[in-house]
Amino acid sequence: MSSAEAVVLSAVTHTYGDVTAVGPVSLTVPAGEFLVLVGASGCGKSTLLRLIAGFEQPTAGSVEAAGVPPAPGRGAGLIFQQPRLFPWRTVGGNIALALRYAGIVPSRDRIVSLLSSVGLDDVAHRRTWQISGGQQQRVAIARALAVDNPLLLLDEPFAALDALTRERLQEDLRRVSAETGRTCIFVTHSVDEAVFLGSRVVVLTPRPGRIALDLPIDLPRSGIDPEELRGLPAFAAARTQVGAAVRHPEVFA
Ligand SMILES: Nc1ncnc2c1ncn2[C@@H]1O[C@H](COP(=O)(O)OP(=O)(O)O)[C@@H](O)[C@H]1O
Ligand SMILES: [Mg+2]
Repeated sequence: MSSAEAVVLSAVTHTYGDVTAVGPVSLTVPAGEFLVLVGASGCGKSTLLRLIAGFEQPTAGSVEAAGVPPAPGRGAGLIFQQPRLFPWRTVGGNIALALRYAGIVPSRDRIVSLLSSVGLDDVAHRRTWQISGGQQQRVAIARALAVDNPLLLLDEPFAALDALTRERLQEDLRRVSAETGRTCIFVTHSVDEAVFLGSRVVVLTPRPGRIALDLPIDLPRSGIDPEELRGLPAFAAARTQVGAAVRHPEVFA
């Protein structure tokens, strides 16, 4: 494997007891790609992400991240549906904790600039329960970006947000990922979100999760207004294709 490959799954299967949740799945994710995994609830999306994070071990096959089997707390930033911030700390204190955990001495400038990169100004001193759900999820993204992990794993991070906040966060994540060049693996069951964010979209079949469709999304990654992007014929075409695979994955598998 070359260093240009961030994640490699080779014939990965995962079972819980006698239930096969995933596989076999083989997938190579090049560095810098924004891969979105889409599929119905229960098709094994979270399991795949947990395998890549090293929280689960494959029952068969192998997983490599940056050339080695992944281990928890090493090499990947994680963002979940709930922001999972520490309520007894300020917003800035939550970021500082992540920096310290990674062996980085937190500075005020660094914390402020990280928060600013996700559209948050003047909140470092606030308690996490004094800001909105959308702002809390921005803090969770800033915390994951704080550490110089080349890989970001996101499990339905915007699912609990209202539609308008969700769109804003999608736009910001798209911009931030293009700016930082990090490899992202993003799980969602929204077809629209998948096509908007992904440079590649993989649709999974229902249990066991297997690849039904693996589609490169050939849309500009920067220098384009989100409204304009959503209006491109290629955007509509990709959404139709991904939507069909999500509705009838058996036809594609
Ligand atoms: N810890 C577990 N023990 C037993 N079964 C599980 C466990 N986690 C997930 N499953 C089962 O594995 C399947 C895939 O789950 P999951 O990866 O969470 O799917 P998704 O994220 O796509 O909704 C589901 O049928 C789920 O019930
Ligand atoms: Mg899930």
